[in-house]
Amino acid sequence: MNVLFMGPPGAGKGTQAEKIVEEFQIPHISTGDAFRLAMSQGTPLGVEAKSYVDKGLLVPDEITNGIVKERLAQPDCAKGFLLDGYPRTLAQAEALDEMLSSLGKTLNHVVNLKVDRNLLLARLTGRRICRSCGATYHVMFNAPKQEGVCDKCGGELYQRSDDTEEKVGTRLDEYLNKTAPLLDFYGNKGILYEVNGEQDIQAVTAEIHAHLRGQS
Ligand code: AP5
Ligand code: MG
Ligand code: ZN
Repeated sequence: MNVLFMGPPGAGKGTQAEKIVEEFQIPHISTGDAFRLAMSQGTPLGVEAKSYVDKGLLVPDEITNGIVKERLAQPDCAKGFLLDGYPRTLAQAEALDEMLSSLGKTLNHVVNLKVDRNLLLARLTGRRICRSCGATYHVMFNAPKQEGVCDKCGGELYQRSDDTEEKVGTRLDEYLNKTAPLLDFYGNKGILYEVNGEQDIQAVTAEIHAHLRGQS
C-alpha cells in the first residue's frame, strides 16, 4: 500500500503516520524528519537545508526530490510506504510520478488532513518531540505522562526551532501558495480522501484506518 499524507503544518500528519505505519508495517518517509536529522548531524545537506527550514521556507525541489528518490528505491519500500510532507509543490508531485513509474509503482491513496488555520498555531507552539525516537507530543492535547520525558523510550523532549509564532506564519503561507494547489492535482486523479483533522487523535486514526482498509 503506497500512501501519501497531506495537510498544513500542524494538521497531524506525523502523529497519524506513527500509528498507520505501525498498523500496516510500512516505512514512514518524512522529508521534514530527513532534513532535521541531517541538520542535527551537520552534514552538507543539513547545512543547506537549515538555511530554509529555519526560516519556515520550502527547501528547493532538486534537493528534496533527490532524497525521496533515493529513499523510495530502498528494498523496504517494496511492500509499501507512507510519504509525509512530500510532495509540496507541483514540480515535486510531477517528479514523484516519474520516480514511481520508473520503479513500477503507483500511489494508492492520498489522505488530506483538514484543520482550520486558527487551530494550527496552538498545535505547533505546544508540540514537543522525542530527541531519541521522534515520537510527537503536545503539552495540552497529547501530554506525556511525565513532563519533558518520552513515554515510549524515556528520551528527552524538545521543541522544534521552526515552531515559533513567526515561523509558523511563514510556513502556513508557503503551504497555501505552493502546496494547497496539489489537492486538485490528486483530486483529479481520483485518489484523494479528505479527513476532518479537528477531531481527537484516536477518531482521526480510526477514520484513516477504515479508509485504507477499504471500509469507507
Ligand atoms: P515538516 O517537518 O514536514 O513540517 P510541516 O509540514 O510544517 O508539518 P508538521 O510536522 O509541523 O505538522 P504535522 O502535520 O506533522 O503535525 P503533528 O502530527 O506533528 O517540514 C518542516 C520543514 O522542512 C518545512 O517547513 C520545509 O522547510 C522542509 N520541508 C519538508 N518537506 C519538504 C518538501 N517536500 N519540500 C520542501 N521543503 C520541505 O501535530 C502537530 C501537533 O498537534 C503535535 O503536538 C500533536 O501532538 C498535536 N496533534 C496532532 N493531531 C491532533 C489532534 N487530532 N488533536 C489535537 N492535537 C493534535
Ligand atoms: Mg510532521
Ligand atoms: Zn522517545
